[in-house]
Amino acid sequence: MEKIIAHAAEAIILREGGKIIKRRIKKSYRIPELDEKLRKLRTRSESKLLEKASKLISVPKLIKSDEKSKEIELEFLDGKKLSENLDNLKDKFEIMEQVGEETAKLHDNNIIHGDLTTSNMILVENKSIKDSQKINNKPAAKTNKSIKQSTGNSKLITDKNNFQVYIIDFGLGYISSRIEDKAVDIHLLKQALEAKHFQNWEKLFSSFLKGYNSKDKTKILEQLKKVEARGRYRKNAH
Ligand SMILES: Nc1ncnc2c1ncn2[C@@H]1O[C@H](COP(=O)(O)OP(=O)(O)O)[C@@H](O)[C@H]1O
Ligand SMILES: [Mg+2]
Repeated sequence: MEKIIAHAAEAIILREGGKIIKRRIKKSYRIPELDEKLRKLRTRSESKLLEKASKLISVPKLIKSDEKSKEIELEFLDGKKLSENLDNLKDKFEIMEQVGEETAKLHDNNIIHGDLTTSNMILVENKSIKDSQKINNKPAAKTNKSIKQSTGNSKLITDKNNFQVYIIDFGLGYISSRIEDKAVDIHLLKQALEAKHFQNWEKLFSSFLKGYNSKDKTKILEQLKKVEARGRYRKNAH
C-alpha cells in the first residue's frame, strides 16, 4: 500500500513500507518538452548528489532512480523531522553541532545543499543500538570486515551521542567550490533557525558553527557577513 506523506510544488512523496518514493510531477505551466527535460535532469541530479553525499555523511540510502518515471526510491527514515521537534529536544545544541559537522563535510567536497532548513533534517535516535541489533541479525557467515563495511554509513555516531541527524532532499543541490555558494547555504540555515526556532536560534546557530569546521571556515563566515549585508540592503530598499 502506498501512502502519500507529502505533496510539494515539485514532487509527491509516497511511503511504501520501508521505502520512500519521490516522484517529480508534471507542471502544466511549462512547455511539455521542457517540463519533461527538467524533471529528468532534477531526478538525475538528486540521485547523483545523494550517492556522493552518502560517502561523506548520513543520508537515506538510494534504492533506485528512474529517469523515465521521474522517481527516486529511498530508504524510509524512521525518525523525527527537526523542523517539528528541535525546540523540544534536550540534545538540541549537540544536534545542531552535528548538523554543522555534516555541512562542513558536504562543503569541503563542494556539495551545496541548496535548501538547508530543518525541514530537510531527520533525527534518528538510539541509532547505535538499532545498528548493533542489525549486526546481530546478520547471517553468521558474514565476516567482521563485511559487517563493518555494511554499517559504514553511520560515520558520525560517537560514544558521546546516541543519535544521528540525516540530511535529506538534495533536490536543489549542486556542485560548486565557490565560497559565496557555501555562505549562502549557511545563510539559509541561519534564516530558518531565526524564523522557526526563534526561542533559541542564536545558541542553535552557534552550536552549528561549533561543528562547522570547514577548511575554509574563516573565508566562508566572512562571506556570510557580506551575504547578510546584501539582505539588509534589499530589505531597506523596499
Ligand atoms: N527518506 C525519508 N524518510 C522519511 N521521510 C522522508 C524521507 N524523504 C522525505 N521524507 C519526508 O517527505 C518530506 C518531503 O521530502 P523532500 O525530499 O524534502 O521533498 P521536497 O523537495 O518536496 O521538500 C520531508 O520533509 C520528510 O517529511
Ligand atoms: Mg524538502
